[in-house]
Formats: sequence, structure tokens, C-alpha cells
Amino acid sequence: MPAARLDSGMYEVFLILHFLGLALGVGTSFAFLTLGISTRSMTPEQRTEFMLKAAVLSKNGSIGLALLIVSGIGFLVTRGVGEVMRWGGGAFHTKLLLVAILAGLVGYLQVLLKKARLAGGGPSMATIPKVSRIALIVSVTIVILAVIAFK
Ligand code: HEM
Repeated sequence: MPAARLDSGMYEVFLILHFLGLALGVGTSFAFLTLGISTRSMTPEQRTEFMLKAAVLSKNGSIGLALLIVSGIGFLVTRGVGEVMRWGGGAFHTKLLLVAILAGLVGYLQVLLKKARLAGGGPSMATIPKVSRIALIVSVTIVILAVIAFK
């Protein structure tokens, strides 16, 4: 592990933003999982109406991911790309690959949610929970890789 964490005020701001992004981003995925489970007893119409309202939560997910990416780039700039790549090693490289996949999944979820909103439900309502669950698994894997990379 390189010398103690970079003692630059800006670096600490990025670290705070990274953890806030984590709370917002991964928290949203867990919230949708719980909402999906807790609405199973509803009729399909009630559930569609409820989930279309709850879909506003996805904004938190996008803001969280944006904070993670911006603060992550902040780490690279302040500490140096080469040093972070060396420090994080293979676990960090895999993490970055999964971050790209997560960004694609979150983008696709936004498209599905928009379609569902415009249609007042429709076929994309069945796809949203599946993509959301994959995004949750990818997010948790990124967290595990980050802890392995930066211990
Ligand atoms: C462009 C995207 C990203 C970059 C470049 C990046 C980079 C980094 C770096 C350099 C650290 C170490 C910070 C330090 O301790 O000094 C870190 C920590 C961490 N990152 Fe990221 N990150 C990114 C996205 C994400 C995402 C999307 C997640 C979660 C879904 C995430 C989760 C974490 C966690 C949990 C830590 C803390 C690890 C620990 O302290 O043990 N990061 N990240």
C-alpha cells in the first residue's frame, strides 16, 4: 500500500463524495429490491401504479453513480493515474470494467423507465426488475473489488 492517503484537502473531498455516491447509488438498488419484494402481493395494476411512482427513486441512483465516477476520476487526477493503477492492480482494473457495465445498465434502466412512464406500464415493467437486480449484483461486486484493491 502506498504512503498514507494523500493528504490533500481536495482528495478528502473526493473520498467524501465517493462514499456519498456509494450510499446513494448502491442504496437505490437495494431500495428497489425491497420495493419489488414488498409489492408482490399487489394486483398487477396496483403494482404498476405503485412502481411507476417509486421510479422517481432512480434519480438517486443516477446521481450516486455520477458522484462515484466524478470523484473516482478526481482520485486518478490527484493521486496520478499510474500510481492508482499500480496500487489497485488487477482488482481495480476489473472494478473499472464493471463500472462501465454498471453505467450501461443504469442508462438502459432510465430508457426502460421512460418507456414505462409514457405507456403507463407496458412490457418494459417486466424487464425493469431483472435489469435492476443485475445492476445490484454488479454494484456489490464493485464494492468487494474496491476493498480488495485498496486495502
Ligand atoms: C470511474 C469510476 C471510479 C474510479 C476511478 C474509482 C477509484 C477509486 C479509488 C482510487 C479508490 C481509493 C480511494 C482511497 O482510498 O484513497 C476508490 C475507493 C472505493 N471505491 Fe471507487 N472508483 C470508481 C467508481 C466506483 C463505483 C461505481 C463504486 C461502487 C459501486 C466504487 C466503490 C468504491 C469503494 C467501496 C471504495 C473504498 C475502498 C476502501 O477504502 O477500501 N467506486 N475508488
